[in-house]
Amino acid sequence: MRLITVIGARPQFIKSTVVSKELSNIGIEELSLHTGQHYDQNMSGVFFNELNMKMPDIQLSVGSGGHGHQTGRMLIDIEEVFLEKKPDGCIVYGDTNSTLAGALVASKLHIPVFHIEAGLRSFNKKMPEEVNRVLTDHISDSLFTPTSIASKNLINEGIDESKIFEFGDVMLDSSLHFKENIKSVEETLGRFGLSRKKYILVTLHRPSNVDEKEQLFKLLTSIDAVGMKSNVVFPVHPRTRNRIEEFGIDTRQFEHIHFIEPLGYLDMIVLESEAELIVTDSGGVQKEAYFYRVPCVTLRDETEWLELISSGWNYLLSPRSPKDQIVQGIIGRINQRGEDCQLYGGGDASKAIASQILRG
Ligand code: UD1
Ligand code: UDP
Repeated sequence: MRLITVIGARPQFIKSTVVSKELSNIGIEELSLHTGQHYDQNMSGVFFNELNMKMPDIQLSVGSGGHGHQTGRMLIDIEEVFLEKKPDGCIVYGDTNSTLAGALVASKLHIPVFHIEAGLRSFNKKMPEEVNRVLTDHISDSLFTPTSIASKNLINEGIDESKIFEFGDVMLDSSLHFKENIKSVEETLGRFGLSRKKYILVTLHRPSNVDEKEQLFKLLTSIDAVGMKSNVVFPVHPRTRNRIEEFGIDTRQFEHIHFIEPLGYLDMIVLESEAELIVTDSGGVQKEAYFYRVPCVTLRDETEWLELISSGWNYLLSPRSPKDQIVQGIIGRINQRGEDCQLYGGGDASKAIASQILRG
């Protein structure tokens, strides 16, 4: 069996490592196709190096652009590769433009689509990811869901139950696997001038939070005010960095935020697990906060990961709230731990997914 896995964005590199290992263990040949959606060294190359990943077998250079431009270029280039390589199946992850493009090309060529991290819904069609997920799920042949809520979402949309496989979340597998590779927590924290449990880690990259000047400015001002209570470290996603520059926002005015470049995954694991609180709008970081049992505030109006809210580990704070409410909302969550629970499976989702793919 020979598959092509389509990846292109930071979280997909991380998710695919653990699955690729399991595919290889059971003799499935996998070619990886990197669309080039993310291309900066610290958004792409770093993960291949530090996670010991095989370099992409096929490297496209689609790069950035509007949704139509970016997805359109991916469709054209991926189709060419699939026509030439004729894979027996296509694996896609999550909900990015690379996910949709890979699934759409494969589906039109009657190549089975395996969607990992299927069934997530925010029910907010203004999120580009929601459109990508719904479309991808409906053209997939095997849908690997991380939670029972995700499986139910698919069933509610009329997807045949026989196509749905609920094996847990591959991000849990990946965090358990790579946590072992952390050499020195103190050394990593020292490089960033941080001490255990004495700082707040922030990430922001959702278009709804960063693509409008006033909204972005309000969030930065709020986070700066939080920084008067506890150190704040903020690895800045390139979308956010570019918006800050385009809007002419001078980050020197935010004296209490320590802005840093995007981190490699191993540094990120350390900074997440040793934070006293995480503030984010990332899907993956919300879950990782829970994996390391760190309270989390999600600056969004909704989340796909509802079990994090009901278990008390994550708290939704509307980014449209006035500044004071955002500041108080964040500070109020310090030390607010959730309940003792076991979400997202047993850390063996990748293995189960690989076996199911082999079965057909
Ligand atoms: C994408 C995904 C999002 C995912 C995120 C993970 C879509 C629609 N969105 O969002 O679901 O959560 O990746 O990080 O697929 N840029 C660089 N260098 C890079 C990559 C991007 O400078 O290596 C800048 C460009 O200005 C680009 C912008 O970031 O226009 C946004 O990149 P893009 O891949 O379109 O979307 P993300 O916001 O990264
Ligand atoms: N991540 C990282 N370095 C960073 C920020 C995030 O390695 O500076 C990792 C993070 O640990 C998680 C994944 O990237 O595994 C999440 O990606 P992102 O927030 O970009 O996207 P999302 O999960 O929202 O799609």
